[in-house]
Amino acid sequence: MSNGPRSSAGRGTGTAVKEERGVRLPPTLPPFWHRRHVLDLDDFSAEEIGLVMDTAEAMKEVLSRQIARVPTLRGTTVVTLFYEASTRTRTSFELAARVLGADVMSIAASASSVQKGESLVDTVLTVQAVGADVLVMRHGHSGAPYLAARHSNLKVVNAGDGWHAHPTQALLDLFTMRSHLGDLRGRKVVIVGDITHSRVARSNMWGLTAVGARVVLCGPPTLMPVGLGGANGHEHDELALPPVEVNLDLDRAIEGADVVMALRLQMERQQAGLIPSVREYVRLYQVNGERLARAKPGALAMHPGPMNEGIEISPEVAHGVHSVIEEQVTNGVAVRMAVLYLLTNARSGAVLGTEGQA
Ligand code: CP
Repeated sequence: MSNGPRSSAGRGTGTAVKEERGVRLPPTLPPFWHRRHVLDLDDFSAEEIGLVMDTAEAMKEVLSRQIARVPTLRGTTVVTLFYEASTRTRTSFELAARVLGADVMSIAASASSVQKGESLVDTVLTVQAVGADVLVMRHGHSGAPYLAARHSNLKVVNAGDGWHAHPTQALLDLFTMRSHLGDLRGRKVVIVGDITHSRVARSNMWGLTAVGARVVLCGPPTLMPVGLGGANGHEHDELALPPVEVNLDLDRAIEGADVVMALRLQMERQQAGLIPSVREYVRLYQVNGERLARAKPGALAMHPGPMNEGIEISPEVAHGVHSVIEEQVTNGVAVRMAVLYLLTNARSGAVLGTEGQA
């Protein structure tokens, strides 16, 4: 199966850039960027991913400043609406928006009028009516952010919907990989665990194949989507998948890997009879030191969090020299700043600090 990039461009945008204080950003957004929403990576080109990565690099520089605050999104209101729990995604979006000078409102569905039976569309229209510009939304049902995008004038960012997609997680994963490995074309990325129920795996598959990486999936056959590679009858729906490889034997799959990404095992999978026992899962699919030694020297150990240490990943790997798990979280702020910046078509001058600091 071909894993070629979805366009010829590899790393970077290929557009003219402005360099100031070590920051590189296009002076205007390139013509290929015309997004209103970020709902998944399934339609992202390599150029678009390169633009997000380059913009996130610039945002990292902003974050390194003594006073990490710029007026880029001044006058913009960002609302986070979360129907599911989150630590990393919600806090990093909120911090990203604040650093860019936006006003931020946070709504937890559990403490909102959703509890009184308000529908999703009415909730989104209410958020719009109070003056929001950008909606960052997490929902347990696949497709919910698409509904929000269709029924409102808000710019919508999917912060995780059901089993479907978690595009900004995949973007921060790609950013972390790129910062260690450079060009990801031909790099072997092994994703291990409950692939079927993982929105992180799904968005990573799209993002990684778009930039030409080789994706190998590993996990129990009962937690592996059927008909991978577009032959599953899902070609036109939200569960379609790009061409990837499958190897159910982790010891073999991990050989020569540049990146090994473990996924969280949700304990209810055992109750549902999808794995024989947690002990068996650990024996066959835990990413541990012995297994990681089969990967390339210097391979990256990744996990989107939250982790079940001692189950899908051993503590020695989670906190060892190969681990970039905390770096993933840190990079999440810069990547989400980049996404907010690009969606709101902000001008680079403000980010670069050339129009006065906030
Ligand atoms: N990786 C991730 O989405 O973490 P949170 O659930 O803490 O946001």
